[in-house]
Amino acid sequence: MSSPAPAASAAHGTGPVHPATARPSSALSGRVRVPGDKSVSHRALILGALARGETHITGLLEGEDVLNTAKACAALGARVERIGEGQWRVEGVGVGGFSAPAAPLDFGNSGTGVRLMMGAVAGNPIAATFDGDASLRKRPMRRVLDPLSAMGVEVLSAAEGGRLPLTLRGLADLSAFTYETPVPSAQVKSAVLLAGLAASGETVVREREATRDHTERMLTHFGAQVRVEPFGPHGRTITLTGRPALRGAPVVVPSDPSSAAFPLVAALLVPGSDIVITDMMMNPLRIGLVTTLMEMGARIDILAERTEGGEAVADLRVRHSHLKGVEVPPERAPAMIDEYPILAVAAAFADGPTAMRGLAELRVKESDRLAAVADGLAVCGIAHEVHGDDLIVAGGGAVRGGGPVATHMDHRIAMAFLVLGLASQEGVGIDDTTFIATSFPTFMPMMAGLGAVIR
Ligand code: S3P
Repeated sequence: MSSPAPAASAAHGTGPVHPATARPSSALSGRVRVPGDKSVSHRALILGALARGETHITGLLEGEDVLNTAKACAALGARVERIGEGQWRVEGVGVGGFSAPAAPLDFGNSGTGVRLMMGAVAGNPIAATFDGDASLRKRPMRRVLDPLSAMGVEVLSAAEGGRLPLTLRGLADLSAFTYETPVPSAQVKSAVLLAGLAASGETVVREREATRDHTERMLTHFGAQVRVEPFGPHGRTITLTGRPALRGAPVVVPSDPSSAAFPLVAALLVPGSDIVITDMMMNPLRIGLVTTLMEMGARIDILAERTEGGEAVADLRVRHSHLKGVEVPPERAPAMIDEYPILAVAAAFADGPTAMRGLAELRVKESDRLAAVADGLAVCGIAHEVHGDDLIVAGGGAVRGGGPVATHMDHRIAMAFLVLGLASQEGVGIDDTTFIATSFPTFMPMMAGLGAVIR
């Protein structure tokens, strides 16, 4: 990269840990704007690198995951420049124009970064090695390697089980492919579509459950032809015409609803709270948590709904609420897949049980989130049960708190249990805050600004 960017830490799970404790807090108040959306930020950099000409990005999330993607784009030959806070300029090389990186590409903690970049590299006649931290090295990559191999990519080497570190050799002329994703995953869908840019003919992805559609939207924005049709009751078929002339385009990154989830639930749980979260992205495939919390009786007013940069955006007024337990349908999971840890925290304070079903994908996130949430709830004295892939939180009682909760290099486990501590009787300690910087580097000062006591 040609100008200084905030340093991405080399945290590989072996560095110093930074424990913290969230104390019972008095009413939260104020207006906050959480940082840019992580999914949109990764995609803006990657499509910028794959397009010809300049892409100007406003509101980029400057968290470690995204900074690692920026570095990877630069290592592949794109010019990536930080020109101000959240303002980045990318000069792309065109589809098929990546050059072989001189060193392994290190994606740190980020599954999105590594899986999308594997798809982006696929259509280039180069070899590249992909690696990440101890958490990312445990995560399944075959879900991406299988379809990419079918399109012609060669897997030159991989760790046991097809895991990182692994080396791929791409191909200038990939075979167009029709693929039904075996798991509901926007990362898998996106990897196949990005590879499909270098294929002649149409690449088709079918998903039985619709997942976040930022790749499809942004491909269209950069000039590709993408058709989206319904597939079954909850799914979609996405058809991309290969070899488009992708042109650099301006991208305005809206605020990340997955980050907003933490102050939002904190305000619902801490008595007397009344806050406003501004400019939150309201893409329907991302706001399953808001739907669920409203069903639970949350006082959330959706204000000033508008469209910004091609995405629905709104301001949310959130007030302390008495929640009741609900049944969360499994088909809602893709629209709130990253929000189950914080929903489990909210559920602990609700009257009656909350049943969250069909959570198999939670086991392969930055940690085994089903196990990590269950263990954390146990440490804090919260009754719950795990049956297969379902989590049922009993609810109904005052929450004692406790600690230390083990966060397993997982930012969302860390933030969820800190929020729990704010509304608990005795506070909650967590073993490490380090990984919060992957997605929400301003979490601590922003929460302190609302009145939260976390030390
Ligand atoms: C993401 C997709 C989801 C989500 C992740 C971001 C994306 O993962 O959990 O945080 O940006 O495409 P899966 O594709 O594995 O479901």
